[in-house]
Amino acid sequence: MTATVTTAEELAGRLFEAGIGAFELLTVGLGDRLGLYRTLSDGPLTPTALAAATGVDARYVREWCEQQATAGILAVDDPTADPDDRRYVLPPGTEAVLLDPDSPAHVVPLAGFLESAGRVLPALEHAYRTGSGVPFADYGVQHAQGGFNRPAFTGRLVAEWLPTLPDLDAALRAGGAVADLGCGVGWAAIALARGYPDATVDGYDVDPASVEAATRNAADAGVADRVRFVVADVTDPALTGDYAGVFAFEMIHDLADPVAALRTARRLTRGPVVVMDENASDGFTAPGSPVDRLLYAASVLHCLPVGRCAEHSAATGTVMRPATLRRYAADAGFTHVTDLPIDDAMFRFYRLEG
Ligand SMILES: C[S@@+](CC[C@H](N)C(=O)[O-])C[C@H]1O[C@@H](n2cnc3c(N)ncnc32)[C@H](O)[C@@H]1O
Repeated sequence: MTATVTTAEELAGRLFEAGIGAFELLTVGLGDRLGLYRTLSDGPLTPTALAAATGVDARYVREWCEQQATAGILAVDDPTADPDDRRYVLPPGTEAVLLDPDSPAHVVPLAGFLESAGRVLPALEHAYRTGSGVPFADYGVQHAQGGFNRPAFTGRLVAEWLPTLPDLDAALRAGGAVADLGCGVGWAAIALARGYPDATVDGYDVDPASVEAATRNAADAGVADRVRFVVADVTDPALTGDYAGVFAFEMIHDLADPVAALRTARRLTRGPVVVMDENASDGFTAPGSPVDRLLYAASVLHCLPVGRCAEHSAATGTVMRPATLRRYAADAGFTHVTDLPIDDAMFRFYRLEG
């Protein structure tokens, strides 16, 4: 037997703490949705003033402020003052965590993952009993998924990841076109367009809500003239194109037919196909690392059920180990798979060619 928590008391304590954390994360998500943190970033406010500034009900805002201060997320100037006279503020230095969508510290989108799992829990129970799946669209997780990866795309994709692909970097500098398969709400494609002012990017995603949001995000980012988003199933053998390279960011493990998607990628380019996928350990370990724990929880609640919506599914799950990706790549016809020298806590990067 492997070592785990040793006593009932320890396990109960650990799960109790996890429950507090999950509850508090959802209150952060609520504050984010209501614009409460954003307004507090202008300076300390009483609950009444915060409510007036945001158009939110004052009694609810007071409860939320007290909860946030109790949780140590907001600071309060005088806890002994009358409830309506206390002034609440973001602790200095926490703005990046709560407010900056491009900061690596911005973990607020995690709240959206919790919310989405809660939304589909009855459907998940049914899927587990019957061996069926739960459609991606039912989770309503597009914004959270995009938001979670956005800082890496904005900050690292062009500055740190593309330099490990000199041929693709050069092609993009020269105004080449690339495809982004399973583009989600578009942050990777937008980062590429911003980093390479002459390049064009086509993003493909099967989820219409994602494509709609991506199109809006590209317009807001001022790159709509060079980034196009299309609703398409990338496992469709009829999908054709001629790109300098193809990206598949955190999507291969989600697919019922990952080999078909890789075949499409191979068909779309004579250049490299770049797969970014989960930083799962090489093999199963228990207990696992925090990253493995996160990946398995995501797999149980999201990726495996999403991938099992088709009748015949590879049923990969979030924990796609390097050997699995290499097998899929070989089955799709690639002759070379190289690990890109990119150090990242969450992701592995593979260059496929041949
Ligand atoms: C985990 S999300 C990743 C989104 C984005 N690449 C990112 O890194 O944030 C996986 C995406 O793959 C898309 N997807 C799943 N199956 C697909 C398919 N067969 N064709 C095209 N897109 C697909 C989903 O709709 C979703 O947007």
